[in-house]
Amino acid sequence: MTTTLQTPLEILTHADAGVMTLTLNRVGKKNSITSAMYGAMAEALESANHDPAVRVVVIQGHESIFSAGNDIGDFLNNPPSTPDAPVFCFLRGISTFPKPIVAAVCGPAVGIGTTMLLHCDLVYAGDNAAFSMPFVNLGLCPEAASSFLVPQLMGYPRAAEALLLGEPFMAETALDMGLINRIVPPAEANALAQRQALKLAAKPLSALIETKRLMKKGTTGIVAERMAEEGASFGRMLQEPAAREAFTAFMERRKPEFSRV
Ligand code: COA
Repeated sequence: MTTTLQTPLEILTHADAGVMTLTLNRVGKKNSITSAMYGAMAEALESANHDPAVRVVVIQGHESIFSAGNDIGDFLNNPPSTPDAPVFCFLRGISTFPKPIVAAVCGPAVGIGTTMLLHCDLVYAGDNAAFSMPFVNLGLCPEAASSFLVPQLMGYPRAAEALLLGEPFMAETALDMGLINRIVPPAEANALAQRQALKLAAKPLSALIETKRLMKKGTTGIVAERMAEEGASFGRMLQEPAAREAFTAFMERRKPEFSRV
């Protein structure tokens, strides 16, 4: 049976054969994510969690762009300042989601476009995928527990290049670091994610859930704690001069001037 749930069109939600697929659908703005989109994704995950017909979730974008990260206009005008802000609800939802999550990533994956992948179980990337976590360049600190998970995944030296320098890295490097599972031509990434999700959906759900829980048991507590600490710093730093300058510069299409901050 195929159902299409009612969510804003910038997040398409489609459920079929035990797989719920969330598609970032704001390509004109490079799939940057607004508060409303985080809210829709958080709600979709919540409903997928409680719906026994959903066994696996797929998150995908477009073959030219996964996500340019948080909508920068939203950061300026509607900054998430409390733990119940939609972005933090989404991050708590994805990081504690008990069923498998498969992602397909093509093109740029900026900020949360990369860090949300740390909470997916299988990640398939197009050979055009470019990952970056430029939080420092925006006067911010990491989110999504990436300050813990990125050094753990890739080791401190490479984490420092990714998180202090904010340097982008391509799919081959992401594969080498263990962030992604496989590289395919961009036109094939979404289809591969669906095939793998269907394979998972055919397995016993209770065994999938228990296996995922056990694999994550060693980090569940620290991830939640770190995410809360990062969120408090992130919310404060959004209001400070360095971030305001970075966002204003992006909107004015100029280089930021950080000499006074
Ligand atoms: N928030 C809001 N709008 C964004 C955006 C973001 N994060 N990223 C891109 N856009 C918008 C641009 O303002 C532009 O809008 P316009 O056509 O109305 O002027 C449109 O999307 C296209 O972006 P553009 O920068 O022209 O595309 P590009 O192909 O040259 O570059 C990126 C793509 C993703 C590399 C680039 O857009 C980028 O670096 N974006 C910001 C990423 C970022 O810092 N995110 C925050 C992470 S915490």
